[in-house]
Amino acid sequence: MCGIVGYVGREQAAPILLDGLSRLEYRGYDSAGVAVYHDGQVRVAKSKGRLQVLSDMIQGGRAIPGTIGIGHTRWATHGAPSDTNSHPHVSHSGKIAVVHNGIIENYAQLKSFLQAKGVPFVSETDSEVVAQLVEYFYEGDLLAAVGRVLHRIEGAYALGILCCDQPDQLIAVRKDSPLILGLGEESNFLASDVTAILRHTRDVIYMEDGEVAVLTAQGIQCYNSLLQPITKEVARVDWEVDAAEKGGYEHFMAKEIMEQPEALRRTIFPRIQDGEVYLEDFALTDEEIRDLQKLYIVACGSSYHVGMVGKYHLERLLRKPVEVALASEFRYMEPIVDEHTLVVVISQSGETLDTMAALREAKRLGAKVLAIVNVVGSSIARESDVVLYTWAGPEIAVATTKAYSTQLAVLNLLGLYFARRLGTIETEEYRDILGQMLLLSAQMEEVLAQKSQIQYLASRYFNHESIFFMGRNVDYALGLEGSLKLKEISYIHSEAYAAGELKHGTISLIEDGTLVVAVGTYGALFDKALSNVVEVKSRGADVLALTTASHAQRMEEVANGMMLIPDTHPMLLPSLGVVPLQLFAYYVALHRGCDIDKPRNLAKSVTVE
Ligand code: G6P
Repeated sequence: MCGIVGYVGREQAAPILLDGLSRLEYRGYDSAGVAVYHDGQVRVAKSKGRLQVLSDMIQGGRAIPGTIGIGHTRWATHGAPSDTNSHPHVSHSGKIAVVHNGIIENYAQLKSFLQAKGVPFVSETDSEVVAQLVEYFYEGDLLAAVGRVLHRIEGAYALGILCCDQPDQLIAVRKDSPLILGLGEESNFLASDVTAILRHTRDVIYMEDGEVAVLTAQGIQCYNSLLQPITKEVARVDWEVDAAEKGGYEHFMAKEIMEQPEALRRTIFPRIQDGEVYLEDFALTDEEIRDLQKLYIVACGSSYHVGMVGKYHLERLLRKPVEVALASEFRYMEPIVDEHTLVVVISQSGETLDTMAALREAKRLGAKVLAIVNVVGSSIARESDVVLYTWAGPEIAVATTKAYSTQLAVLNLLGLYFARRLGTIETEEYRDILGQMLLLSAQMEEVLAQKSQIQYLASRYFNHESIFFMGRNVDYALGLEGSLKLKEISYIHSEAYAAGELKHGTISLIEDGTLVVAVGTYGALFDKALSNVVEVKSRGADVLALTTASHAQRMEEVANGMMLIPDTHPMLLPSLGVVPLQLFAYYVALHRGCDIDKPRNLAKSVTVE
């Protein structure tokens, strides 16, 4: 999704902006641009396509000198990807330049209003209206003009604003779209994502909704929505710079798949102490836990799939109803949620707009909200009543891997913590699961060691145009994630089915050579999984099976290809089972020559509805 970087300082701005934008490429974009002030004017360079096109156009930034500027990577919403629709947008006189993430919902009315006053527009975007409106209200005080604009625009926005009459300052604005400020030495930054500025500073200010900031080389002054000066806390980011770099891997996705054992260690180990689950800063009392009548898990994409797995485990563990909803549906479906409901929102980025809106809806209805989040200080983390961080480190590839695994681990820990407090789990089983959880990282390493075998399987199947996943119970939930991974990065049409549903429709699509990935890790339903394999094979399917070591022999007798995971407690099977599916998707995409880290039309963090 769109990315923003801004710089003011002593050095040349354009190369810093290009570098910052390159670190945001992973978020997904279709065009890029920069605006730099120099010698009385703002010079803008922008282009459809990859950042490299822009960089070549301005010779890596050397062609546009100046020490203050803003940059943007755009993911088209209003208006097709084109040079003109790219940001920065400039007001008609060229005085004001703006980069914007989000959507200005009332842009059409504002545009008509300005056009009626004779203001010419050049793009089809909603964002251009901000630049034109700032100029319309500008009477020599940029901050005051921005303040007037903020009273008129509706929607979600993170803005970076530059004005050639006040060439020593940048203005940053945030409402429902992430924006952080970075403090350097005689230089300051704004960015939609901390990875853009991590090379320059680790000292950041998280802006809250409605806040405005003025950045100069000397410092940053923040204001509340009434434009009264406020003092903000400076936070220190402890991510390593190289954690956001490829470190010898061909793709971030490969690196992040391989990082999963380590990420799991960080997520799990500190939370199991003396044979008990320990959740840091856990703000729910035992009485509040007992008082809960229902859990609602709400998320998008892969985070939603974590919720799907979690439902099976948590209901069994807690004997309380657990509902799972897509955030985009939850927010409009008048959910039955009250003060006896715990809404668990799951989000890697902590910025997904639908998840954020669902969180607010849940709070409005009186529920407590617990967030499972990766990005520290993100909007969802800040607005939730309780936060459990996944500690996966920066995830750059659009297709999530280590965030999924760590989210699942945290959800399992939460389930065990609640079950212990509710007395719904036997001590023996509780201890057994915790013991097995501590072994997960090592077992995952064993699974990763089979990657060349999975690469071979991918080389056999990469040219299929339609692939089905089937499974029951947690294997169905796992199939959903395997199928999503595959379609996200390889562009192969794929669907996941609850195996029992096959004969209600999907089986009509099975013909000679159709590839079916049979997920059959769940021991209690293994015999049924086996029957489903036989069923699709008898219709001509080629079956690639995923199962556990103890079931390998029986599965091998019927399947055409095998992916194996070690045995563990049933609750932990999806944590291991997801890994071969990630590897399979990765290698299939590799064989097909796809742009794995930046799949077409997708964004890492979806900050629009
Ligand atoms: C995008 C990403 C997915 C992710 C989903 C939810 O679609 O490409 O990988 O699962 O957003 O993101 P979140 O940050 O809320 O987990």
